[in-house]
Amino acid sequence: MSTRKFLIAGNWKMNLSHAKAVELAQGLVKQFPAGSPAQVALIPTFVHLEAVGAIIKGSPMKLGAQDAYFEKHGAFTGEVSCEQLAELAVQYVLVGHSERRHILHETDSLLNKKLLSVLAGNMTAVLCVGETLDQRKGNQTQSVVQTQLQHGLAGVPTGAVEQGRLVIAYEPVWAIGTGLTATPEQAQEVHQFIRERLAGQFGQGLAQSVQIQYGGSVKKASAHSLLSQPDIDGLLVGGASLIVEEFAGIIAAAATAKAA
Ligand code: PGA
Repeated sequence: MSTRKFLIAGNWKMNLSHAKAVELAQGLVKQFPAGSPAQVALIPTFVHLEAVGAIIKGSPMKLGAQDAYFEKHGAFTGEVSCEQLAELAVQYVLVGHSERRHILHETDSLLNKKLLSVLAGNMTAVLCVGETLDQRKGNQTQSVVQTQLQHGLAGVPTGAVEQGRLVIAYEPVWAIGTGLTATPEQAQEVHQFIRERLAGQFGQGLAQSVQIQYGGSVKKASAHSLLSQPDIDGLLVGGASLIVEEFAGIIAAAATAKAA
């Protein structure tokens, strides 16, 4: 049986007013199931990081950011550096979310620089990978994911992986925000493939220690069956993470999954 802990992360995307973000964080702090074995991260927009961080301070929940720029400081209007995020006690940073790849046209080589700078800043990088519907239909899922991993993870120091600071999130683009969830079997197949690729780069032992999350229309009702798959080690949740009852239910599902 694996010793990997579940990582449940709520990606709030570009949602919520300041007041609503505060209300959601406060609601989750109250609802957090005591003794939950899962690691939990809240990932609000940059402008809500400080307020949410203050609310969850002292709780088992950690703070995450949706993006970061790779330069340390300087004339990069609109960007936020890893140093600035670390100052706010951010521990997780998403890299290459499909909305950044497809809407903002971020390339694998840019994402690699971002990922390396997150790791150099002593935070945990969550590299998101996944295929579009056309790519799945064209039987390209593995080659797309392999390319994203190969470029995204180039030059990653083994030490960061040993410290548990590399997380992969498999998020099929066709399942994000669409209400379509990959079946647990579909997700497991890709997660296993990802772990094999990680083994190729970092060795079998280290690959076994890396948390691989699934994301794409996850709900309280689907969380348990996804988490019961051997290579699914957590969930990256968008829409359902904006509802206290749903997100708390997903965290609770992590307490019972893989018990067998
Ligand atoms: P969703 O988003 O749960 O709303 O599909 C997941 C994600 O994009 O991380």
